[in-house]
Amino acid sequence: MENRHAFDRPLLGVLSGERRDPPPVWLMRQAGRYLPEYRALRAEKGGFLALCYDPVAAAEITLQPIRRFGFDGAILFSDILVIPQALGQDLWFETGEGPRLAPQLLDGDMSALSPEPAMLAPIFETVRRVVAELPPHTTMLGFAGSPWTVATYMVAGQGTKDQNPARRLAYRDPAAFRRLIDAIVAATVDYLCDQIDAGVEAVQLFDSWAGSLAPEEFKRWVIVPNRAIVEALRSRRPGIPIIGFPKGIGEKLPVYARETGVDALGIDETMDPVWADGALPASLPVQGNLDPLALVAGGDGLATAVAGIRAAFAKRPHIFNLGHGILQDTPISHVEQLLAMLRA
Ligand code: CP3
Repeated sequence: MENRHAFDRPLLGVLSGERRDPPPVWLMRQAGRYLPEYRALRAEKGGFLALCYDPVAAAEITLQPIRRFGFDGAILFSDILVIPQALGQDLWFETGEGPRLAPQLLDGDMSALSPEPAMLAPIFETVRRVVAELPPHTTMLGFAGSPWTVATYMVAGQGTKDQNPARRLAYRDPAAFRRLIDAIVAATVDYLCDQIDAGVEAVQLFDSWAGSLAPEEFKRWVIVPNRAIVEALRSRRPGIPIIGFPKGIGEKLPVYARETGVDALGIDETMDPVWADGALPASLPVQGNLDPLALVAGGDGLATAVAGIRAAFAKRPHIFNLGHGILQDTPISHVEQLLAMLRA
């Protein structure tokens, strides 16, 4: 839509440092299994990954929560694990268990992999289709996994409780692990540039396992690669805001914000918003951080939690979001309750 630039988009406004009242809102994993219209399309198309590579279906799923709730941001429907696949690993989802990648890279050796970057093309087609249909006030968000988080899956070949295989490899053979991280950085920068060229207006870097690293390892594998992505995007696609979401890093948040240079910081539900507000630069836009379980519970608990977060961030640019993805058993009426409270 050529004339999108003529419209105000509150989410982009906040990402550029403005304060908006009420705060713009979107929810991580807002397209997904808590929506009956998602479950219906998934059953018809036969699985999550098939949906990710079907631009008509993926665009429809991206738009479902926008139609239903009018969120301020639409996040591309895809997954962080398409990058390992483009780097040459096989990817599938075991029902009831989660992702599997093969071969595992327990020693970090990628020499057997044949990268296939062209397989990402349908995802950019999804972006173009969404942008063509998006209400003009809604911001189109792209995303990628951060290198450390993506590497934890590539090394172990699956999700792990404490990221033990990748942490072990990083100590045992830092040079091999560095090569893996560098390959993910390069693929991720190209991938995000292509999302931007297709119409994405801001991007989020998901570092879901950033909290599992000892301090020196955190600098090496979280700070350095995220900063590399930020710097490359700034130079190749200037003006596109970058949201960092380093889940679980606690008191390392101010260092992460300063040293990666992200434009905005997503914070998880374990962070005290009053502490975060005091610890972070006053002009830094913050996104978050409602406990997904408070949304499952609804009622007074939800109302109290929402009021506390809004009060804590009352003086800074704030994007309302969850502290992590929406849970599958979240009642739709509770999402409606949340939006009514925010928009009252
Ligand atoms: O926020 C969004 O709605 C955008 C789409 C998105 C998905 N996954 C869709 C998805 C995003 C941004 C992700 C990120 C992602 N994927 C992360 C980082 C953020 C986080 O949640 O910690 C991680 C670690 C993954 C890897 C992944 N994908 C796992 C571990 C799983 C299985 C767990 C599960 O919930 O079943 C997925 C599957 C997945 N990704 C689903 C969705 C909607 C569920 C698919 C389905 O079963 O229909």
